[in-house]
Amino acid sequence: MIILAIIFLATCVLWLYWAAKARHMDQMTASLPALPTLPLIGNGSLFLGDTQQILKNLWTLADLAFKHKNSAKLWLGPKLYVAIGDPEDAQVVLENCLDKDVVYRFLRPWLGHGLFVAPVNLWKAHRKVLLPVFHNKIVEEYLGVIAEQADVLVERLNERVDAKQFDVLKYITACTLDIVFETAMGERMDVQHSPDTPYLRARHTVMEILNMRLFKVWLQPDCIFNLTPYAKQQRDNIDLTHKFTDEVVQKKRLEYERKKGDLKGQNDGKLRAVLDLLFGREIEFTDEQLREHIDSITIAGNDTTALVIAYTLVLLGIHQDAQERVLQEQESIFGSSTRGSTKEDLQQMHYLERVIKESMRLYTVVPIIARNIDRDIYLPTCGVTVPAGAGAVIGAFAIHQSAAWGPKPEVFDPDRFLPERSQNRHPAAFLPFSYGSRNCIGRNFGMLIMKSIISTVVRSYKIEADEIGPLKVEMLLFPINGHQIKISRRTLLK
Ligand code: HEM
Repeated sequence: MIILAIIFLATCVLWLYWAAKARHMDQMTASLPALPTLPLIGNGSLFLGDTQQILKNLWTLADLAFKHKNSAKLWLGPKLYVAIGDPEDAQVVLENCLDKDVVYRFLRPWLGHGLFVAPVNLWKAHRKVLLPVFHNKIVEEYLGVIAEQADVLVERLNERVDAKQFDVLKYITACTLDIVFETAMGERMDVQHSPDTPYLRARHTVMEILNMRLFKVWLQPDCIFNLTPYAKQQRDNIDLTHKFTDEVVQKKRLEYERKKGDLKGQNDGKLRAVLDLLFGREIEFTDEQLREHIDSITIAGNDTTALVIAYTLVLLGIHQDAQERVLQEQESIFGSSTRGSTKEDLQQMHYLERVIKESMRLYTVVPIIARNIDRDIYLPTCGVTVPAGAGAVIGAFAIHQSAAWGPKPEVFDPDRFLPERSQNRHPAAFLPFSYGSRNCIGRNFGMLIMKSIISTVVRSYKIEADEIGPLKVEMLLFPINGHQIKISRRTLLK
């Protein structure tokens, strides 16, 4: 009886404490607009329904924000979030709050303390070590791998020439997987020719479960999730992917130990994969840490890059004038050659770069970035101090369509990115790779891959497409009907 009374009292005290804190947070952010809330779940209903509906709900929130200094607030259960659609306020959050929001915790069983989800203290030390590995000079060494895989892609696409429309994403994803695996781990996977392996199936299953959990709020508490069959399925498949990367790490460690001493500071002519470069650094990573970093890199770097390439190809298929300009630029660099791109070639692809940027603006594949507010922080545009303990949801997709882009942000216009049209734009108005010191570490590498692949495909095929159509949001942004294009063979000018 006494125990029951103590539990009851403790619950009341906790509830009163939480209620007082929530009231205080609500008052501090009183000037922000909000959608109507329901008891207990707050605005949780925004995340109910299918992934197309969820995207529509997010747009409703963005529209509300746009009417009131570009920010709004929402309660997800007991937690307050500030949704930000303004470049200036996004910049303040992304420069000052480096801790990821709790929602990323679902990735922890898979990626551990890998860079993507690492807690701030660990992240700071590890990012410093990883940064030089993604330096331009290093990633440019990967251009040979990219060119080789781009050729395989062109050969595989041959089966679709002059046929009806098809979803190009499957082909592109296999190609980027081959590139990212070989350059991150130094292992050739040949996914383009053998797409069905136990490792890839396991990886796909884990992604599906994570996506589902992200948007089915009732599966989010561990105590409920662990009662479902998905928990075991997730565990088994994560174990399988870990085993795969562990084996590669062990093999590479043996190679490193063997070569240590005789090859100090020298390059033996073999490709230096990211993993090879992580041995013998200022921090001696354990095998587990290496696996966590490599898994984070292959997961963060693959689908994102593949999606941007696929969106860009569809956009070029819709906008024939832009495709023609891309082609002219390619012909001025390559003539009629179908060789792979060198660093110098890529530097001359100014128009293609603008097209890719415009594609990332209109179809922001990482549409939302969520951070934990770990101390009170003042947002200058909306004029509100967001209290510590809240979360910030940066709506990159909304910022990319905000007033910062002028009167018709929905129009495809790559020349928006011309230097003379960009100079007065806020630096955080364009954040497909996030912003600040915790931005995408692979952004330059991603740009190299995207430019090289699109260059090779456009020189080989003429692309036609009708539309991108309705979208849905999972961890990334997808078109519901896939990336549908038609291709026909092209002969370049002599
Ligand atoms: C078009 C391609 C890409 C896009 C749009 C993209 C986008 C992003 C974004 C938005 C973030 C921040 C996510 C967040 O804070 O929630 C991020 C982080 C990250 N990305 Fe990328 N990315 C791309 C390519 C790559 C590539 C090619 C790699 C590596 C091979 C990579 C590796 C990473 C890693 C490791 C992080 C975590 C960085 C950290 O927390 O320090 N990404 N990326």
